Amino acid sequence: MDLFEGILKRRSIRKYKEKEIEEEILKKIIEAGMYAPSSSNKRPWFFILIKNKEILKKIADFHPYGKMLYQAPCAILVCGNKNLQNLEGYLALDCAAATQNILLSALSFGIGSCWIAVYPREERINFIKNLLKLEKNLLPISLVSLGYPAEEKEKPERFEEEKLKILL
Ligand SMILES: Cc1cc2nc3c(=O)[nH]c(=O)nc-3n(C[C@H](O)[C@H](O)[C@H](O)COP(=O)(O)O)c2cc1C
Repeated sequence: MDLFEGILKRRSIRKYKEKEIEEEILKKIIEAGMYAPSSSNKRPWFFILIKNKEILKKIADFHPYGKMLYQAPCAILVCGNKNLQNLEGYLALDCAAATQNILLSALSFGIGSCWIAVYPREERINFIKNLLKLEKNLLPISLVSLGYPAEEKEKPERFEEEKLKILL
């Protein structure tokens, strides 16, 4: 799939088939996350691949907009490593770039995905930290649910002329 076509085609997919995602594909999706741009090329991320159904269920029970985790075969938690980047703004931005790479590369392998917000909501950050017993230096930023898609979505029209200004 052409990259531009993929960017326009990507949609949040929240319904999944029961089929597990192959290990090599998951590794490549995480590799794509690691190729994201980052401030000063610090690459201050840490990825946690969650396949444990009990953990996925606990997050789904807690998260008001994470109910797709009841069905998803797995999810990737994108964390920022404060030891590698001490400015929280950059940490969040770098992890957001990694998250977008994950969403787009998942699409390229025919995998549906959805960004589930953690940062900057304190109660979600604390819940995830406690549930997964994260090391102190790790700040959970986003969670991405993954699965073979069980829904299809149309490409919406999103080009909004009024959101562009050209300076000559
Ligand atoms: C920072 C961020 C947080 C999001 N959090 C959630 C979430 O918690 N749950 C969810 O279902 N979707 C979440 N989304 C997905 C958005 O709802 C989705 O991207 C938006 O509605 C546009 O739809 P699309 O992804 O299909 O283009 C989030 C997206 C972003 C960028």
